[in-house]
Amino acid sequence: MLILGIETSCDETAAAVVRDGRETISNVVFTQIPLHKRYGGVVPEIASRAHIEKIDAVVRAALDEAAEATGGAPLDAVAVTYGPGLAPALIVGLNFAKGLAASLGVPLVAINHLEAHLHTPFLFDAGETPAAPEPSRLRRALGLVVSGGHTNWIDMPSYGRYRTIGQTLDDAAGEAFDKAAKMLGLGYPGGPVIDKMAAAYNAAHPDLSALIPFPKGRPREGVSALAGLRADFCVSFSGLKTALMRYVEREGAEERERIVASYQEAIVQALAGRTEAALCAYRPEAFVLGGGVSLNSRVRSVLGEVCARAGVPLYMAKPKYCGDNGAMVAGLAFYRRNIAGDAAMAVDAAPSLEIADAEQ
Ligand code: KG4
Ligand code: ZN
Repeated sequence: MLILGIETSCDETAAAVVRDGRETISNVVFTQIPLHKRYGGVVPEIASRAHIEKIDAVVRAALDEAAEATGGAPLDAVAVTYGPGLAPALIVGLNFAKGLAASLGVPLVAINHLEAHLHTPFLFDAGETPAAPEPSRLRRALGLVVSGGHTNWIDMPSYGRYRTIGQTLDDAAGEAFDKAAKMLGLGYPGGPVIDKMAAAYNAAHPDLSALIPFPKGRPREGVSALAGLRADFCVSFSGLKTALMRYVEREGAEERERIVASYQEAIVQALAGRTEAALCAYRPEAFVLGGGVSLNSRVRSVLGEVCARAGVPLYMAKPKYCGDNGAMVAGLAFYRRNIAGDAAMAVDAAPSLEIADAEQ
């Protein structure tokens, strides 16, 4: 089954064709980062306009590439992200996908962006042997989506069933990277710059105990923002951001590399600590990691160590599938057709969509 996936929830205009949920036949991503850079963050109206300008060419490129690879095999469905994300950006992809599905006479499938990130470790490229197992055979997995908008630990009792067990109470991990970079004048987005700078610093200073001890973002037990979730599965990055600001006010930013490495380490250790607690409590068969921040080299290596200690296999997205892309949307749609056909045609953009069970 060949599915076209369209993704426009934030600042990437993306489309891809995936076979049977996992094998990527084509994958085209137009990133708008240069357009938003000078504003220090994503401007929804600019994102929306750029999606409108680019979507036709991006989808056409994904379809042309797929047609070449498959000898013109027809599409079986069109899938599209309907939330969460920026409303004016989501609407562009959703409307385009509705029109395309109607004109091709194939079903439309509406996809949750968070679920799609959790599918990325299961994608592989045509001709390649997949590193991850068939997801529908997993009995229980623990997922972590770490991106610019989310930091969510998700229990998956089986594939397609989701329950959020932990999350950030304020900023997402990617947001924490981006805000620090802004504060230190490192540009947007912050994650990749900080990753590089911290890697160079850590390579030259292997003794991590000499880093600045920034707070590790553990919320207090019983605070109302937990909304019933366990504090040891949740993070809070607002205190870390304040600690960075105070430190720079007090000490200056001359030791920028050391500050950045220390700040990154606080985020990484926060993610690692909660993951360890959740793995221990849920004892899943696999740990599944996706989202832009999962591109971070230190996140990848430390979470690798955490999983090895817990004896749980770690499945991470390939770097090209960490950020937003259409392949994760097309791939998931093979497994998750709970909003399809007429129901999908009637769906509206859902900017604050949460992750929910297939059974609901
Ligand atoms: O998944 P994504 O492309 O979009 C959202 O759905 O949010 O994630 C973007 C986020 C940004 O905050 C960016 O700074 C962060 O991912 N990011 C990184 C790295 N690459 C991107 N954070 C840490 N280290 C990286 N190497
Ligand atoms: Zn995303």
